[in-house]
Amino acid sequence: MPRSSTTSRSCAASTSPRVSPRRCPPRTTRLWTRSSVGYEADDDPARLDLGVIWTFLSTEAYWHRWRTRADVEKQVGNAWRVVGVYEEESGDQVGFARAISDGVSDAYLADVFVLAAHRGRGLGKLLVSTMIDEGPGRNFRWVLFTADAHGLYRKYGFRAADDKALVRMEPPSPGLHPSTS
Ligand SMILES: CC(C)(COP(=O)(O)OP(=O)(O)OC[C@H]1O[C@@H](n2cnc3c(N)ncnc32)[C@H](O)[C@@H]1OP(=O)(O)O)[C@@H](O)C(=O)NCCC(=O)NCCS
Repeated sequence: MPRSSTTSRSCAASTSPRVSPRRCPPRTTRLWTRSSVGYEADDDPARLDLGVIWTFLSTEAYWHRWRTRADVEKQVGNAWRVVGVYEEESGDQVGFARAISDGVSDAYLADVFVLAAHRGRGLGKLLVSTMIDEGPGRNFRWVLFTADAHGLYRKYGFRAADDKALVRMEPPSPGLHPSTS
């Protein structure tokens, strides 16, 4: 059963050894929810296990494998909102998603995954519904890029873009790290 509360806790003040100190994005709502199959979703950034996130994104993800661990830590640290899925018994993180947003109207969903051993149990839906439908972005316009799992995202209102959406798919200097100036 979902529960939400307001918190003024600064993520920069986190003492978690798992998360690097970082700038805190504007974030006023902490939402916690539990699935019925021994897992819970939590949007507390201090609870993230960056080792799990980095291992998946650097060895299994089919996207953005060029990222360094520092890149991933920066993206996680600069996220508007993160959601982790955790096994209740062990507390281990088994799923992740991050979002970029202006905090008012628009957001971008990225790096959605559930570890292979835990797939097919509704955790992808728990992750995406927590991020999209059960938090401060529930009325936002959302964007994502994915090569598969379209069926998962359709459940939350995602559709192929119409001719009002324009995307610059390729950077002007392909092959260079995107943050190269
Ligand atoms: C995509 C992913 C997050 C789904 O996680 P999951 O825990 O297995 O998903 P769920 O058990 O909640 O199933 C979600 C629903 O989406 C569907 N679905 C799951 N993966 C799918 C895929 N690759 N393609 C199409 N539909 C998919 C399921 O059939 C299910 O539908 P149903 O409820 O009608 O049966 C997981 O397979 C994963 O991490 N894959 C590797 C990373 C990835 O591809 N991420 C997406 C790119 S952004």
